Amino acid sequence: MPAPLPAPAIPGQPLTALAPMQDVTGLAFMRVAAHCGAPDYFVTEFFRVHAQSRPEKHILRAIDENPAGRPVFAQLIGADIAHLLRTIDALLRHPVAGIDLNLGCPAPKVFRKNVGGGLLREPGKIAKILAALRAAVPGLLTVKMRIGFEDTGCYDAILDLVNEHRIDLLAVHGRTVRELYRGEVRYDAIARAVARVRCPVMANGDITSAAKAARVLAGTRAAGVMIGRHAIRNPWIFRQCREHFAGRPVTPVTLADVRDHIDRLYDATRLHAATGAPVPEAARVARMKKFLNFTGQSVDADGAFLRDMRRAATAAGLFAVCDRHLLAEPAREFALEPHPGLVARPNCE
Ligand SMILES: Cc1cc2nc3c(=O)[nH]c(=O)nc-3n(C[C@H](O)[C@H](O)[C@H](O)COP(=O)(O)O)c2cc1C
Repeated sequence: MPAPLPAPAIPGQPLTALAPMQDVTGLAFMRVAAHCGAPDYFVTEFFRVHAQSRPEKHILRAIDENPAGRPVFAQLIGADIAHLLRTIDALLRHPVAGIDLNLGCPAPKVFRKNVGGGLLREPGKIAKILAALRAAVPGLLTVKMRIGFEDTGCYDAILDLVNEHRIDLLAVHGRTVRELYRGEVRYDAIARAVARVRCPVMANGDITSAAKAARVLAGTRAAGVMIGRHAIRNPWIFRQCREHFAGRPVTPVTLADVRDHIDRLYDATRLHAATGAPVPEAARVARMKKFLNFTGQSVDADGAFLRDMRRAATAAGLFAVCDRHLLAEPAREFALEPHPGLVARPNCE
């Protein structure tokens, strides 16, 4: 019996997934996302696989203590088959929904080792890895990929490998590795994957709102959407997708709701995910700012919240900024789309 794919929370609707994001989509964020309306499934940030690696404890917690009641896939990044198999063996002892292989990470220190996005230059190597993983994973085996390294020259060949090795679900971020997180997402390339592979395809990249999700689904015929940065900005986006897909109006989120969300996030990041030790205030404030860099794109069109928030150095200072910008007009709506021109994290975007 093949393992069942994740089911949409509302039968018949397209699937939604939270995209894996290193240092962001751990247990703390999963908790607050679940409160706002969980995606249909999660994928962990990547477990690094190499000769000395052991599955990282803090990522394992996102699987073992999954607060959302939705499936969690464990993502791996690596290329050494023996070590990948050893890691899979360890991960299958945890309640994972399946194993996901990262074929997209664009960080130079990753792709230079020919793992993540680096592998997109070597379809032959991908073929060997997928064959070994398929033989080792009795349940769901999924892939998350970009459309190429430099260009889309190897794209069709890799899509054919997805068929040959009976991958169960494919997520495609419609950019090359070289494009990092910038430039137009190639939804036409995602549509090409939908037409070429036999498994369901999740469309990923710049899905900014429920309305955009519906447009991308209509244009690509994908089975669902995987949403990353815009779920950090707007963690209600999955609930809004379900409302929009059902033809209902999207429930507005107010600035007061955002203020409550910030309290929940602060509470959820109280303890260190790996050790359980309390996180010192400065580190906790820095971590909050990482999330709020995204949230701030929908607070005000001038970016005043973003500017003030980035200057805060203490928790009291940060919360004073949040109160000033979010509680002056608490009933004002939090914008569904990011305000144009506001950049979340200059060194990551
Ligand atoms: C901070 C950050 C960390 C990321 N970490 C991962 C990761 O661990 N694994 C992965 O497959 N993709 C990772 N990605 C890529 C996202 O999953 C996603 O493919 C990309 O952000 C495009 O989707 P979006 O426009 O909805 O954000 C990361 C992206 C960001 C911004």
